Amino acid sequence: MAVVTTHRTQVAIVGAGPAGLLLGHLLHLNGIDSVIVENRARDYVIDRVRAGVLEQGTVDLLNAIGVDAGLRRRGLRHEGFYVSVLGSRHRIDLSSLTGGKAITVYGQNEVVRDLIDARIETARPLYFNAEQVAVTAVDSPSPVVRFRHDGAEHAVHCDFVAGCDGFHGVCRPAIPDAALTIYERVYPFAWLGILAEAEPSSDELVYTYHERGFALFSMRSPTVTRLYLQVPPDEPIERWPDEAIWAEMLERMRARDGWQPNVGRIIQKSVTPMRSFVATPMRHGNLFLAGDAAHIVPPTGAKGLNLAAADVLVLARAMKAYYERGDTGKLSEYSDVCLRRVWKAQRFSWWMTSTLHRFPGENAFDYQRQVADLDYLTSSRAAMTSLAEQYVGLPFEVSFESAGLPAVEQEAATH
Ligand code: FAD
Ligand code: DHB
Repeated sequence: MAVVTTHRTQVAIVGAGPAGLLLGHLLHLNGIDSVIVENRARDYVIDRVRAGVLEQGTVDLLNAIGVDAGLRRRGLRHEGFYVSVLGSRHRIDLSSLTGGKAITVYGQNEVVRDLIDARIETARPLYFNAEQVAVTAVDSPSPVVRFRHDGAEHAVHCDFVAGCDGFHGVCRPAIPDAALTIYERVYPFAWLGILAEAEPSSDELVYTYHERGFALFSMRSPTVTRLYLQVPPDEPIERWPDEAIWAEMLERMRARDGWQPNVGRIIQKSVTPMRSFVATPMRHGNLFLAGDAAHIVPPTGAKGLNLAAADVLVLARAMKAYYERGDTGKLSEYSDVCLRRVWKAQRFSWWMTSTLHRFPGENAFDYQRQVADLDYLTSSRAAMTSLAEQYVGLPFEVSFESAGLPAVEQEAATH
């Protein structure tokens, strides 16, 4: 039989995305030991192009844990964004509508890179390229995470497993079907996303509703533009040569005030399906799901990464209470506390998606209603206030202090 290297830790974290890495750091700051196991290579995890918008609370959290040097240097604070409806651009003044809050554009890959660097500095274990990761005995007081690494077998014995391994991971499938309730909606379109070497032509994001479909202007830096286009589901990327992408982007985004994105060399392109998904409860025995492992939102509301951050804040508070005082109450509350935020973000992301995309098969009534929705949204201060409050992020339900962090400029509504 092969030799198995046995590890003993408090929390085994599966997945080194934003949820797993952030949880690892929160636990570290509370003196709680963890092992992080990731099945991809370090560069792959860092280079994967995904989210870009951080809520105010996510920025505050990165600040509170001290992983904010890059964010402070390269993060782009945005106090508003535009909604462009059939060629007319309307600004949503996030800061004036929310008492001074803002969002920050900072690539998920930068967040992940910063968190990996912070993890390595703690000298706590983080395995990349783990193969055949398997989660067992989660119903018992001593679950085990097994994997192969560099040809050797490993077994991590722990008190808790944190399933932070995204939508396609192994943790959610480790829970018996009968113990989970799944809520799901798949949308009849996808997003084609590109990164282009082009100076952003607007300081703020532009969400576009056009007769030909949704488009989104965003950015990553003063020299890189990030753009998205609504396309049919399962659209083969080969159907979109660069010239066709630019022609469609410009057609949809060119506004009557003359604004349009700058064109440049496309350096990355991919197609992302759109889905709303929630698996409840987010705990089974001693396995806790967090982030995309438990829920997916369509990207229109920019909520996915932010929800992952909110989940692990709640989980860190619960684990701190357990290890400090033997209090299991916060662990029991974990799923309910997270799901209150998750469902509000689901509702918001579904609403942003439904309001801004063209749905195949819609009739003339649906179209007029959608245009009226957008007219109302861009002309009513009450409607814009609701949008702004949700876009910058609802306040966290748990305080930073309860998760062992200094209380930095955090908002009320905490218990
Ligand atoms: P992931 O980032 O998926 O991390 C899971 C990790 O687990 C990965 O590193 C994976 O390799 C690893 N893993 C998987 N299986 C295993 C296994 N068997 N063993 C070990 N490790 C495993 N969100 C926002 O908040 N704002 C946005 O602007 C935004 N825009 C988006 C745009 C696009 C195009 C896409 C695709 C997503 C966007 N999101 C956005 C969503 C956001 O990227 C995700 O919600 C976020 O990555 C969730 O983090 P996570 O750590 O839960 O999961
Ligand atoms: C980005 C992604 C989103 O889903 C969104 O709503 C806004 C911006 C981005 O990648 O920059």
